[in-house]
Amino acid sequence: MNPIESKKIATDTLPDDLEALKKIVLQCHLCNLAKTRKNVVFGEGNPEAKLMFVGEGPGATEDETGRPFVGRAGQLLTKMIENVLEIRRSEVFIANIVKCRPPNNRVPTPDEVASCIPYLFKQIEIVNPKIIVALGSTSYRHLTNDKTPISKIRGKKLNFQGRILIPTFHPSFLLRNPSKKKEAYEDLLTIKELLCEVS
Ligand code: URA
Repeated sequence: MNPIESKKIATDTLPDDLEALKKIVLQCHLCNLAKTRKNVVFGEGNPEAKLMFVGEGPGATEDETGRPFVGRAGQLLTKMIENVLEIRRSEVFIANIVKCRPPNNRVPTPDEVASCIPYLFKQIEIVNPKIIVALGSTSYRHLTNDKTPISKIRGKKLNFQGRILIPTFHPSFLLRNPSKKKEAYEDLLTIKELLCEVS
């Protein structure tokens, strides 16, 4: 790993148009993850979604395909959206804290996150969702700078830049800890109720 800090870009210098932003992100070389990625995973979904999910970063299948949450964890997320929220996956917007796969699925470094997160903040500004779901502790911590463990904060309705932020367990964690699915289900019911209120 190159010890030199990655380059940074300010959110307010990025375009206010999702397609124009995507073009920039697909060519990004601000950090070292660009050297090992196969594809940039910009995110996908309804550009006017009321609900946005934010994961941690692409895994192997996402890196291969350029699409977010399409591996095993993604299949679980899709079921959570379609079977519990009872909406189509294409109705929501799905993004990640970092857009390129960290090698061996390690947690992205603070430096990589600092380079990449302005893209997410711009996506949030453009899509303008009423509700954001932070999937897992990495997502929650980097969105809010709050280090409270996900097990303590999950399911709470928080204010985030005038939007509602709800942290919940990451689907990969649920695959490893199926006994936690009950709590995640409760969080989804909270999200479903809120979605009804804002629709
Ligand atoms: N895990 C994530 O956090 N994001 C993805 O896109 C896939 C798996």
